Amino acid sequence: MDQIEGVFNGNFDLVENIKVSPFSRAYTFSDSVYEVIPFYNLKAIAFDIHIKRLLRSSSELSIPLDIKKASDEMEQLISNCSSVNGYVYYQVTRGEDKIRSHFYKQSTDVETFGYVTPYSFETKTLKVMTCEDIRWGRCDIKSTSLLGNVMQMNSAHQYGCDEVILHKDNILREAGASNIFFINDGSVCTPSLSNNILPGITRALLIEELKKINIPLIEDNFTLDDLSCASSAWLSSSTKGLAPISEIVNLENSLDTKDPLYLRCKEVFDNKFFS
Ligand code: PDD
Repeated sequence: MDQIEGVFNGNFDLVENIKVSPFSRAYTFSDSVYEVIPFYNLKAIAFDIHIKRLLRSSSELSIPLDIKKASDEMEQLISNCSSVNGYVYYQVTRGEDKIRSHFYKQSTDVETFGYVTPYSFETKTLKVMTCEDIRWGRCDIKSTSLLGNVMQMNSAHQYGCDEVILHKDNILREAGASNIFFINDGSVCTPSLSNNILPGITRALLIEELKKINIPLIEDNFTLDDLSCASSAWLSSSTKGLAPISEIVNLENSLDTKDPLYLRCKEVFDNKFFS
């Protein structure tokens, strides 16, 4: 495996040389938040929006973050990358305890870790499964506490699925590591944001582009029935881009990965961010 460039508490080094305390609250409590920032031709996509979301996530958990230092480190990671296309992972942890305790000390030094890796943003067609959302009630915070996502994605993986579509009592939320869009009756539909959905930046960027060209868009509390009537569906994320769904293994419906309205959305998005 190629060596990975990282930064830990401000020190740049190969990730294999970084040493982390087992009392880091990232280990003991997943007491950390993160961002994944894609870059294409060395240009970060929506950098400021990612920084704003990282700041919001850390302030929701009362983790005091030096955002200027974090942004500078992320920019440096991008410029250190061996490839012009890739992504930066950046994690902010409350810090290290003297001994494990649910109660944190305000004086704890914030721990930061980032790495950069080349990535080719090829569009992959996805096979997915729907399942009941078992996660906590603050999925709008981009926290590393992702066990619900991990459990459900890995269960679905046994059936050859790449992703899961999460719903609660039939109301659609998002996917395991992306947001969901689908087309019903000529409109692009996506679940409204709530505490149970990560406000995806790819989601927001796509919505902004669609509004500019007057493509009908509805944000609402959609159901599994709405999804089963969809003619086309796709997932959005910083690493997937807009990835078409070819099959939902446990839902009766027929999805067209070449639907003209989906292709138009993808063209508009890719022209703006990946050209
Ligand atoms: N995941 N919802 C969840 C649960 C996610 O984990 C992600 C992103 C998204 C899409 O967000 P964005 O468009 O800002 O990437 C939605 C990242 C890529 C990850 O954890 O690797």
